Amino acid sequence: MSTNNAISILLVEDEDFDVARVRNTIRLFSERLHIAEVVSNGRAALELIQKKIDHYDVVILDYQISGGLKGEELIRKIKDVDPCIQIIVITKMTINITDYDFANNLLKAGAFWYCTKYPGNIEEYIYQPTDFLLGIFNAYEKKKLEKHTQRADRRLMQSVESLLEARRLIGDSKPMIQLKEAIEKYAKIDVNVLISGASGTGKELVAWNIHLKSKRKFEKFVPINCGSIPHELIESELFGYEKGSFTGANVPKLGLFEIANHGTVFLDEVSELSPSAQVKLLRVIQDGEIEKIGRTESMSVNVRIIAATNKNLAADVSEGRFREDLYFRLNIVPLDIVPLRQRGEDILLLFDHFLEYFSNDLGVSTPSVEAKAREILLNYRWPGNVRELRSVVQRLVLNCPDKITAKDVSNPMILHSPVLTKDMSSLDEMSGGQVLPLRDMERIFRTRYFKYVRSISSSDSNAAEKLGLAPSNFYRMCKELGIK
Ligand SMILES: Nc1ncnc2c1ncn2[C@@H]1O[C@H](COP(=O)(O)OP(=O)(O)OP(=O)(O)O)[C@@H](O)[C@H]1O
Ligand SMILES: [Mg+2]
Repeated sequence: MSTNNAISILLVEDEDFDVARVRNTIRLFSERLHIAEVVSNGRAALELIQKKIDHYDVVILDYQISGGLKGEELIRKIKDVDPCIQIIVITKMTINITDYDFANNLLKAGAFWYCTKYPGNIEEYIYQPTDFLLGIFNAYEKKKLEKHTQRADRRLMQSVESLLEARRLIGDSKPMIQLKEAIEKYAKIDVNVLISGASGTGKELVAWNIHLKSKRKFEKFVPINCGSIPHELIESELFGYEKGSFTGANVPKLGLFEIANHGTVFLDEVSELSPSAQVKLLRVIQDGEIEKIGRTESMSVNVRIIAATNKNLAADVSEGRFREDLYFRLNIVPLDIVPLRQRGEDILLLFDHFLEYFSNDLGVSTPSVEAKAREILLNYRWPGNVRELRSVVQRLVLNCPDKITAKDVSNPMILHSPVLTKDMSSLDEMSGGQVLPLRDMERIFRTRYFKYVRSISSSDSNAAEKLGLAPSNFYRMCKELGIK
């Protein structure tokens, strides 16, 4: 960095005559321009820049210097070390010629500016002095600006990283690993994503992760719950309105799509959108334009849409409640989050994570957890998924300062749904957590068991034999169950 507000210059020039000409050209401004060092080859220049980080503002670089490292290659290497340093190239190669490619290649490599040295008979100056000085001052302004941007970007990056840390997805189960891989992959591609999953499975958390890992991470993430806004207000929430567009519109209103411009909109409970809001949303996706109420010409916006639903949106489409064309536009990448009870050990990982979090939050030491209590947690149905687990832990930390026992956990004030034993939990899984008529349950069991036995048998008749059935009966029953 320049001292005393003088611009610190590294001069890379191997001819004494030209060093003297550069010095003389800037002499009148010696208080503000300081040639900190003169070196005669590229390696020495690069070493200095690497060693004295943030020391030089501008490099004045002769294009043809001795040694292997020079020209565009040297420019690139300098910019790799310090992207903010500005490089002015001087050369006599272009005396009397105009070579656009030459100039272009220098700029592409990262030079700020280049000028053709005066011919040797002009002994005092390297280049028209005022132009040369202006070039250096402009280079310095650009360096300051880039440094400023670099610092601001770093601060933004730090805040993105801390946002990500606070929204870390916990879980090592196979479905979670697959989900995390999908997030990494699709965050980088700017496509719409439809997240499906039961209530409390982490849909909003996943949407945040996609946003914070995408190129839109420095822009806004605007969540909107389509289910919580009355139908007649949803369009003005999403797209805004102009002043005077209807009675009571005394001030213009920005819509959420405008607010999120360049960022991400998270449309939660998307199945709740009214038919006319669906049409307008389709327009945004197809044309990148919003129709603001009371405005004749449309407005361009650039947003990524992440939608979420805890319903079967495909079923809503086939029953005519949701537009098919919109469904396909939103569902470019489908992400399904499985219920917590199907994620095995993740239950305990999340439990320990929240236990530590809430204990820290309360400033108390983390209570120990009885093995039997863990077993109950593992076998519980978790109808409210991770959100339920989180509040269960919160209640436990408040109620059990030292130890969490099986009795504490099975207390109906803690786990609101009935606690199931191991046998019950497999039944529970088979019935999807509902109580079904015996006939339906038998059918589920038969289907699974027939499929299982067939999968470990060499043929249908072999499977029939294992089941103690005549092959014809086995075949008929398979047909009834829809397996054949
Ligand atoms: N894998 C996870 N790791 C850590 N925390 C999680 C995880 N999944 C969910 N959570 C936490 O559980 C709570 C519920 O998550 P979130 O709000 O994202 O669920 P949701 O699917 O959007 O729920 P809803 O359908 O009710 O809107 C949040 O506090 C969230 O931080
Ligand atoms: Mg949600």
